[in-house]
Parts: sequence; C-alpha cells; structure tokens
Amino acid sequence: MDFFETIRGRRSCREFLDRPVSAKDIETCLEAARLAPSGTNAQPWRFLVARRPGIRAALAEAGHGHSGLKQAPAIVALLGDRGLYRKRLRRAKELADIGALRPETLAALESRYLEKEKNAAGSRDAGLEDRAIQANCMLAGEHFVLAAAALELGCCWVGAFEADKVAEILKLNPKYNFPVALLALGYPADGSQPPRPRYSISDIAWKDEAGRPWEAGTA
Ligand SMILES: Cc1cc2nc3c(=O)[nH]c(=O)nc-3n(C[C@H](O)[C@H](O)[C@H](O)COP(=O)(O)O)c2cc1C
Repeated sequence: MDFFETIRGRRSCREFLDRPVSAKDIETCLEAARLAPSGTNAQPWRFLVARRPGIRAALAEAGHGHSGLKQAPAIVALLGDRGLYRKRLRRAKELADIGALRPETLAALESRYLEKEKNAAGSRDAGLEDRAIQANCMLAGEHFVLAAAALELGCCWVGAFEADKVAEILKLNPKYNFPVALLALGYPADGSQPPRPRYSISDIAWKDEAGRPWEAGTA
C-alpha cells in the first residue's frame, strides 16, 4: 500500500474479528518497529507478543476492560528497556565506527554520559531516563502501528492501563522493563471508520516565528 494511503487510512481499531494474525504478519510489524530511529541508536525497546488467551484476558482487565484488548487475537506490549538504554554509548561508538556519527559528537556524548553516570551514582534520575526511553519507544510503536495498517490489520494503541498489573502479568523484571503501551492487533470488525478530527496545518504550523501561522498552500 502507498505510504500516504496507509497513513490516511489508518484508524485506531477497537473491535476485532475472531481470527488469528499469522506469525509472519506479526514479524512484519516487529521488523518495521525494529527499524525505527532512536537517540544514539540506543533502541531501548522490547516487544512482548501475547497470544495466549489467559494472558490476553488479564491484560484486557489491566486495561480497564478495553474492547480492543478483550477481542484482539494478539496484544503486543511495548516495553521500555533500561538495560538496552544503558548500552547507548556502545551503540554510539558503533555509529562512529561506520562514519554515521562525527568523532566530535561521540566525544561530547561520552563526556555527557560520564557526567550523568557520576551524578546518577546512587541517585539515578529514573524519571528522566524513563522519559527518554519512553520517547524512543513511541517511535518504534508508531512504526509497528503503521506496518499493521499497511497489512490491512487493525491496531489500537492503548495507553490507559495499570502498569503494575501489566508488569506482574507479563512477569517483567521491574528493574529493567516497564510497559509503555499495549497494542491490540487483529483483523478489524468495526467497518470503515470516518477519519477522526485533526487540527489543520494552519492551526498547528508556524512560519519563522512562534504564533505566525503557516498558511497552507500560500507559503
Ligand atoms: C499515546 C496514545 C495513547 C492512547 N491511548 C488509548 C487508550 O488508552 N484507549 C484507546 O481506546 N485509544 C487510545 N489511543 C488511540 C487514540 O484515541 C486515537 O489515536 C485518537 O483518538 C485518534 O484516532 P485515530 O487513531 O483513529 O486516528 C491512544 C493513542 C496514543 C497515541
């Protein structure tokens, strides 16, 4: 499917057919997610594919009984991974080795990283670190969602869930992993949905300075 056609046609899907999604299609979505960009190429994400009915039912409950989570034949838990995030300097060095990161930038990253580690000793700023991890995960999640749309699968990004319950159900090691989103995945049963309202470009884009509207079509 054409890229813009996919973007325009995608909807959050909350009703699913009772029909399994193939492992191949799930892997296509995972492949798209894997290729997402991330700061210093840290890739601080994990994807836990839940297909077992008991686990899905428990996740749906942790998601306040969301219809999509209840019905979807697969729920993909998008998880932040602090262990992978803490390897980001290694990833940055790999980038430098292949010429994708300038040596000066690597040196700056190294000193910033060492400074942060020093300050973090004993009092790691978990909030800041988790926010960075989460921001990267969001990009991978959207790659996943768009790949699902391109395969004409339905998907719903669910952010409203009890994180502690999800961590327990999925046996996460809370030292390293935390849930960012639950992605309900399956074949849509909610027909063709009209597009949800969006701000116009003029509403949200500015030209040269804050508050000066970008007038679509005339700029
Ligand atoms: C970060 C994030 C969290 C969301 N959380 C939920 C959720 O908890 N439950 C839900 O039904 N939809 C959720 N959505 C889907 C949005 O409601 C949906 O994207 C929005 O209404 C626009 O509709 P569309 O995706 O069909 O274009 C979430 C989407 C994002 C990006």
